[in-house]
Amino acid sequence: MPASDPMFDPRTYDGIRKPAIEAWTLPPHCYTSPEFFRAEVKHLFMKVWNFIGRADRIPKPGDYFTLDYVGVPIIVLRDRDGTLKAFGNSCRHRGARIVAGELLDRIASTRGFKCPYHSWVYGTGGELRGCPGMEQTVGFDKKDFGLVPVRLENWGGFLFINFDENAPPLLEHLGDLPEALAAYDCENLVTTQIKVYDVHCNWKIHIENAMEEYHLPAVHGATLNLLKFEHFDVPAKGAWMAIRERHTGTRALLAEDRQHAFPPIPGVHGHAAEGTNYVCLNPSTMLGMTIDTVWYIELHPLGPNRTRVVVGSCFPKATTQRPDFAEKAAYYYKRWNKSIAEDNGIAAVQQQGMCSPLTRPGRLSAHEYLIPKLGKWWIEHTVDRGAAVHGN
Ligand code: FES
Ligand SMILES: [Fe+2]
Repeated sequence: MPASDPMFDPRTYDGIRKPAIEAWTLPPHCYTSPEFFRAEVKHLFMKVWNFIGRADRIPKPGDYFTLDYVGVPIIVLRDRDGTLKAFGNSCRHRGARIVAGELLDRIASTRGFKCPYHSWVYGTGGELRGCPGMEQTVGFDKKDFGLVPVRLENWGGFLFINFDENAPPLLEHLGDLPEALAAYDCENLVTTQIKVYDVHCNWKIHIENAMEEYHLPAVHGATLNLLKFEHFDVPAKGAWMAIRERHTGTRALLAEDRQHAFPPIPGVHGHAAEGTNYVCLNPSTMLGMTIDTVWYIELHPLGPNRTRVVVGSCFPKATTQRPDFAEKAAYYYKRWNKSIAEDNGIAAVQQQGMCSPLTRPGRLSAHEYLIPKLGKWWIEHTVDRGAAVHGN
């Protein structure tokens, strides 16, 4: 990137480094430019902890799922001894993809993986077990050719990968988040539904939308119940931010279905018992946490104008063991399926406008107080970090 390119000059983004009522939005190119997207992949997604699903999805040894994260094919699995691992889904021989496709809303189980090209076989620990025909190859030792491991860490059953060997541990990235969300007992949640959407929007558009309440009347007016809630910003140390709503009952049911509510998460207390927390785990994960359930939005950036949106619904283990679980959970799924479709729809509409050469940076309302905070964090990790590396 040339030193003079305003797209990669930190000063271009001074407008986002202010409180909402003084701030400007990020310039449109941040949401549309292939070059900016490449910088995000390189300086942000390849360097930070990225949420990729819950550990309870793969409960038994040999269970695994696969995904391509920012273009990198990954296998996430539970090894024979129960440990969780992630590996690059490409062969150590001549690089072929080992497991075809992606397992995004389901899992598979195996004792090992066989490459479809020349039949090299890997165990669930990533070790190369078999490589027929390699006997005469000079200086070849199969123990040096296991699958390439990817750093994988777990907080509260939420799994994160990091492509950077030198990144600080996950808990350092999360800061005081585990403490702030302890009342939800995330470790004991079970993921009961995963929905996958392909949305024609930039990933930042989707998460910005999740972290502001300004759009609720226009976008969700016909579905979500729009009582007057108290909203407030939550002080956070670490790579997260949150909006808290104070209200009674659950936020995960439509008003007309409230009689189908499950009991609260066992042991829930304090602020968690008095409303809902909408948490953004930087750079791109949203956790919706209410008195009886937790849902997440996991974003896979596919390109400047395309994002895969994975929505997971999680309930306490005790709730999932109720005989009426499936019947009542259907009302929760109905709410999420409606509201997420509305958010996906408006995100695509925003993207269409954003792609116009006539679109300009805009101003924000006081209701959008987290948008400049998000933008500032992203720019620090994409442009400022890139400028430091390239000497802009
Ligand atoms: S590329 Fe996998 S065995 Fe040859
Ligand atoms: Fe929304």
